[in-house]
Amino acid sequence: LANGLGRTPPMGWNSWNHFQCDITEDLIKETADAMVSTGLADLGYQYINLDDCWGELNRDSKGNLVAKSSTFPSGIKALADYVHSKGLKLGIYSDAGNLTCSKKMPGSLGYEDQDAKTFASWGVDYLKYDNCDNNNIDPKERYPRMSEALLNSGRPIFFSLCEWGSEDPAIWGKSVGNSWRTTGDIEDKWESMTTRADQNNKWASYAGPGGWNDPDMLEIGNGGMTTEEYRAHFSIWALAKAPLLIGCDIRALDDTTKELLSNSEVIAVNQDKLGVQGKKVKSNDDLEVWASPLSGNRLAVVLWNRSSSKAMVTAAWSDLDLEPGTSVDVRDLWLHSTQSSVSGDISAELESHACKMYILTPI
Ligand code: GLA
Repeated sequence: LANGLGRTPPMGWNSWNHFQCDITEDLIKETADAMVSTGLADLGYQYINLDDCWGELNRDSKGNLVAKSSTFPSGIKALADYVHSKGLKLGIYSDAGNLTCSKKMPGSLGYEDQDAKTFASWGVDYLKYDNCDNNNIDPKERYPRMSEALLNSGRPIFFSLCEWGSEDPAIWGKSVGNSWRTTGDIEDKWESMTTRADQNNKWASYAGPGGWNDPDMLEIGNGGMTTEEYRAHFSIWALAKAPLLIGCDIRALDDTTKELLSNSEVIAVNQDKLGVQGKKVKSNDDLEVWASPLSGNRLAVVLWNRSSSKAMVTAAWSDLDLEPGTSVDVRDLWLHSTQSSVSGDISAELESHACKMYILTPI
């Protein structure tokens, strides 16, 4: 969407994966505090995004959305002011239907202009727009209405389409929003994470500055996967130029979770200014190579063992479209070490579900 936003994939946090409807203004403020004190804000994580359940079920007498008085007694404007005072941005959630997916809040269908103006007046910077209870109206009608309304709201608001990929939003989303979900909801499980990665992969050519494919938010730190599975989750999301929206409780980050989410070299791949989505370039019995062109003629490569036993994974120069004999420096983004002048294949012996992530720089 040509609103100047999302020139690189958005980075931040969203309440849903960890807290679902159990959210309060204190939680959100503490999360903003933690974003800064953990150093995550300095690494580029800037959006603090409310998901479902922040509002009352009923609009006020003028038809305006209202924050839930029991959990957000100070209102969203005050919350946005707080988040902005920390140098961060506030995101909110609504739905292109009558009720949101929790059925605990009204959606914005038929109220697009009014709600967009409300969000702008509160100082909201990002809208996630869900797809429940939609009267079976074509999303290609419903989403553009809110897109227009946001453009007319007087405030730049990142627009995240949460259409779940059913009507191939990659094809029509670019002129409507800054990102679009290509999948149903992620769960904190290996099977779910890998399926999202694959479903998202096929739309790679549609992504670019201003509009990104969204395989759903991160589950890192929520406990359902192993460290190596979470490392692969982060590596592949970064390579695929996916939104990096943290979905755990960052007020209580353990060292491993913090190390994964704070890898500035992996984040730099996601935020690379070339903005090309990396793809799976080889798959042999669950031994995979994913690669992405980067600015400066560099290449990001992930070797990934998706099989159930230890295995050697190899990327040949032909898999990476490199001329035979090309010499590169190989930077290991997780070990933070460089191997100079490599001119053959790159291989690694990997435990089940583990990956390696590299940047190759031609010399
Ligand atoms: C849908 C969305 C989720 C989340 C929930 C909230 O399932 O896809 O990401 O926003 O609704 O109810």
